[in-house]
Amino acid sequence: MKITSAEFIISNSDVKKCPNEPLPEYAFIGRSNVGKSSLINMLTGQKKLAKTSARPGKTQLINHFKINQNWYLVDLPGYGYAKVSKTTKATFQKFITEYFEKREQLVCGFVLIDIRLEAQKIDLEFITYLGESEIPFCIIFTKADKIGKVKAQQNVAAYRKKLLATGWEEMPQYFITSSLNTEGKDELLTFIDEINESFHSNKLL
Ligand code: GTP
Ligand code: MG
Repeated sequence: MKITSAEFIISNSDVKKCPNEPLPEYAFIGRSNVGKSSLINMLTGQKKLAKTSARPGKTQLINHFKINQNWYLVDLPGYGYAKVSKTTKATFQKFITEYFEKREQLVCGFVLIDIRLEAQKIDLEFITYLGESEIPFCIIFTKADKIGKVKAQQNVAAYRKKLLATGWEEMPQYFITSSLNTEGKDELLTFIDEINESFHSNKLL
């Protein structure tokens, strides 16, 4: 799939105020600084569409980007950022949870994981939460440019082992990506395109 248009529509912290068109959407979630906003820019080919920063905690709201006039990418705040206050953390948590539980347009969540790191408790907890809530999701490993291909495969294998040990029967569908060199872009867009097709032909909503 080619992205021919990508535009920012709205930011907010209230799920009820998100766009109410019956269009499929894909939300990016993960720890602060894992590369959610950068991935949105990489996929759309627009360097400044979503705001990014080397400092964690940049994205603070639910941000809707309309793509090709018929589906949405959603940028969310990161979880697990130690430096935000308890109150801010609780507020983020509340609207992120509300988003995942109430947003009917959400067809797939993308949980971003830094491919260099060992499995983190907070990510495993979030993945378990999605599984228990029966919310469809995939894993996206980010920053693959920072390690070699062999190491990347080893780390994915270790992640799979960890998930199986925490009760998953199989590794969820996953993608290996780099926002720096566009690795994984075509695979991810093809995946989205296939869901969009079945969404529009079956009218899943
Ligand atoms: P929050 O909005 O704070 O939750 O962070 P985020 O997950 O949106 O991360 P963001 O996209 O802002 O990126 C964080 C930092 O990681 C920035 O300095 C990016 O340039 C860098 N980064 C993101 N993706 C990649 C990647 O694929 N490769 C490399 N080398 N750096 C990346
Ligand atoms: Mg961000």
